[in-house]
Amino acid sequence: MLDATGRNLDYLRLSLTDRCNLRCVYCMPKEGVAWKSHDDILRFEESLRLCRLLCELGIRRIKLTGGEPLIRRGVDNFIRQLRKIPELEQVTLTTNGHVLGDFLDRLGQEAVTLIDGINISLNTTDPATYAAMARFDGLNLAMNGMRRAIEAGISVKLNCVPVRGLNEGDLVNLALEAKSAVKAVRFIELMPMGVAAGLKGIPMAEIIALFEKNFGPLIRDDAPMGNGPAVYYRVSGFKGKIGFISSMSEIFCAGCNRLRLSSDGYLKACLASDKGSDLKALLRSGASDEALKEVMLRLVASKPKAHSFVGSSKPEDDKGPSEERTYQGPEGMYRIGG
Ligand code: 5AD
Ligand code: SF4
Repeated sequence: MLDATGRNLDYLRLSLTDRCNLRCVYCMPKEGVAWKSHDDILRFEESLRLCRLLCELGIRRIKLTGGEPLIRRGVDNFIRQLRKIPELEQVTLTTNGHVLGDFLDRLGQEAVTLIDGINISLNTTDPATYAAMARFDGLNLAMNGMRRAIEAGISVKLNCVPVRGLNEGDLVNLALEAKSAVKAVRFIELMPMGVAAGLKGIPMAEIIALFEKNFGPLIRDDAPMGNGPAVYYRVSGFKGKIGFISSMSEIFCAGCNRLRLSSDGYLKACLASDKGSDLKALLRSGASDEALKEVMLRLVASKPKAHSFVGSSKPEDDKGPSEERTYQGPEGMYRIGG
């Protein structure tokens, strides 16, 4: 699926739920949020139909996200069905890891055939900092999920969002997780959406300098890895890599290959955009596969050239298709799935 600027969109981030068992400071308010009602969320058959159509149009890799995707009931079977889509080459998962151990117990040997990789959100290896950032005292659960995934033979990456005054003293220790079993530890620049607008991120250059002081030179590694805009580095003595997703200090929109489908059925072409096509409404009004595909392609054609978190709040060129409705964003990632 080519957009107007020639970018080939073959990667879908599929949010299975807006619900989460954590309340990370940069994602949700402390008191929680009003969850979408059951009826507002796509049923699994509806998501499967949309995924099948998107794969017919060119999607080859799907990342399951949330909220927390593993707390959605029936997720195991959904993934089994998803894997039957012939064009689909890869299914990966982003999770906070808390119920990952249970998920892997249920799947047993099947896990490694269903899931090609897992990203675990882990901001620190310090229990108190973890509890402060996730607003839940559960570092051991996340670490256990990580260990279990590695034991199951699944490739694991860690995602950390450095926040000034919270986990800035823990970044070196977290990076050390890349020394052996973890394929990469990635540092994501804080994006100022929703509740995160009140927090301060840490520029990548500062973190790179910190790591070079502790580990020696970081050597840029351009071997392709993953689906996204992360830039990876090798460190002497580390088996895994250190990655950076510099959403703020570098604009990587030119290489963006992704679409997003929110749990309530909005197809979005840009994380920073408040526009989306309401596929759920179309589905439920009896739209044909052809009609759905036409709307999908129109949204793809309207994908903004670049986001502009810095400066104006609207992505450049964000005109969007005419039948679209305005999405209720920009909000926390729990609605969009990162
Ligand atoms: N800025 C950057 N990253 C964020 N995430 C959630 N909210 C934000 C934000 N405002 C991260 C999560 C998860 C990934 C999907 O996105 O920690 O690792
Ligand atoms: Fe949940 Fe992820 Fe948001 Fe944290 S960042 S509250 S784990 S959805």
